[in-house]
Amino acid sequence: MRSTRSQDPSTRPSAKCTKSHASHYEKKQALSLPPKLNRTTFRTSREMDFLSEKELVTQTGHGVSEWPLVIVKELMDNALDACEDIDTEPVIDVVADASGISVIDNGPGLPEATLEGAFDFSVRASNREAYVAPDRGAQGNALMTLLAMPKVLDSDAGRLIVEAHGKRHVITCGTDPISQRAVVHDDVSDVPKCKNRQSKDGTNKQALSGTTIRVEWTSRHDEDGDVVWPFGSGGFAGRFEQRFRMLVEGYAVFNPHATISLDWFGKRSEWNATDTSWSKWKPCKPTSPHWYETSHLERLIGAYITHDRDAGSDRLVSDLLSEFDGLTGSQKRTKVLVDADAKRVKLSELAVDGELDKPRIARLLASMQSHTRPVKSKRLGVIGEDHLRARLLGMGIESDSFQYSRKVGNDGLPWVLESAFGYRGDCESSRLIFSGANWSAAINNPFRSFGGTGEGLEAVLADMRAGRSEPIVLHLAHPRVEYTDRGKSALVIGGNEQ
Ligand SMILES: Nc1ncnc2c1ncn2[C@@H]1O[C@H](COP(=O)(O)OP(=O)(O)OP(=O)(O)O)[C@@H](O)[C@H]1O
Ligand SMILES: [Mg+2]
Repeated sequence: MRSTRSQDPSTRPSAKCTKSHASHYEKKQALSLPPKLNRTTFRTSREMDFLSEKELVTQTGHGVSEWPLVIVKELMDNALDACEDIDTEPVIDVVADASGISVIDNGPGLPEATLEGAFDFSVRASNREAYVAPDRGAQGNALMTLLAMPKVLDSDAGRLIVEAHGKRHVITCGTDPISQRAVVHDDVSDVPKCKNRQSKDGTNKQALSGTTIRVEWTSRHDEDGDVVWPFGSGGFAGRFEQRFRMLVEGYAVFNPHATISLDWFGKRSEWNATDTSWSKWKPCKPTSPHWYETSHLERLIGAYITHDRDAGSDRLVSDLLSEFDGLTGSQKRTKVLVDADAKRVKLSELAVDGELDKPRIARLLASMQSHTRPVKSKRLGVIGEDHLRARLLGMGIESDSFQYSRKVGNDGLPWVLESAFGYRGDCESSRLIFSGANWSAAINNPFRSFGGTGEGLEAVLADMRAGRSEPIVLHLAHPRVEYTDRGKSALVIGGNEQ
């Protein structure tokens, strides 16, 4: 390759060269050297990533043809978590129609600040991400993907509609053609605070709070008059019905305390709560120090320091401790603080020269763990045989074919694995398999790659997979469910059977 610095002597001009000679030389040089572009490094906002189909596929972990399932799963996770946040029995309505998918809950209402936080695609906004707990959502990502999705689905009319706290937000995402930055338009209007919701007996009941979220697009029909959804080619809405319904039903299978309804193009299905007083480890419950490793506590402390700094405050280490299981009483807290030498210490003091004081945080965690008891597996929540029998009978299984099994384990991290099976006779429809973790239904079976260590939970799961009578229901409760991908489609966990 020719260097642009050295010159071929045969083409070098003499000192006496005339103007015409020089231009002849320049022409010759232009012909002999490849043209060079000195490229400029442009900085483009990563916000744009959310506004392309390709990146949303990565963010959601699912192809466009599965996005109707992604929408309903993420919205139902959030709805159930929100109701449990305020210890309310969840009543969730899902509506699918020609121009959108809506999920309506009776929770505390999506806070305006959280919604606005999601407008900044470069920042996560979540009240779960930094805690270790058996939560459904923990990535602080879903709301952002759902904000961007309508625009990608329908560039003209795609929008997200959020109703909460007496306000209706009609949100559209666009792009600034010059800066290539995401531009979020939030058209806010008032809605009556008391929304009317249809109850089971057809009468209207008033919900004082709650959130309605709707992903909306332009209604379209094909030449036969069938509804076409904008999820990839051949998007006839009817082809989504079975999987959509099964996903919603999965939530009814895993949540005995929830009343769930589905309105699929006017066709209604309802699953009433079988036990409104059913207990599980709810998001509003303090988390256990035994679920944290030092890196997790560092993450939580870092998040609190940043949050407090932004709010112009600084909490005590003691205030942080009061949020943990077993440390709500002041006597225990004092013991931990004395052991960890953190009495009257502010949280910000656990950061030195812009770095977290890792040895000190490790000592604090060790002290928290030594003064509290690990959580017994069953306290995480057991769906239970009665509820699963009721749900499977509702699906038409032969009653004497019902089988239920429960395994519990704890090797530092507690877990509960439940499975149920029933025979549906010579039913023509394909086998129904409901799998999920932490009371959240999975789009695809997340228990796919276990059996590596051959011990504990992995062995139990591998065993179940190998069994000929694959369970119709498989559910795992675990405080540190980790997914290998953002689409929450493959789990990584570990543990030993008790
Ligand atoms: N229906 C709702 N009612 C009240 N708050 C909500 C609702 N939906 C979302 N939120 C709030 O918005 C936050 C962000 O939701 P988002 O789904 O993006 O993240 P996440 O649920 O924390 O994690 P993940 O990305 O795994 O779902 C939640 O942490 C919660 O605080
Ligand atoms: Mg979520």
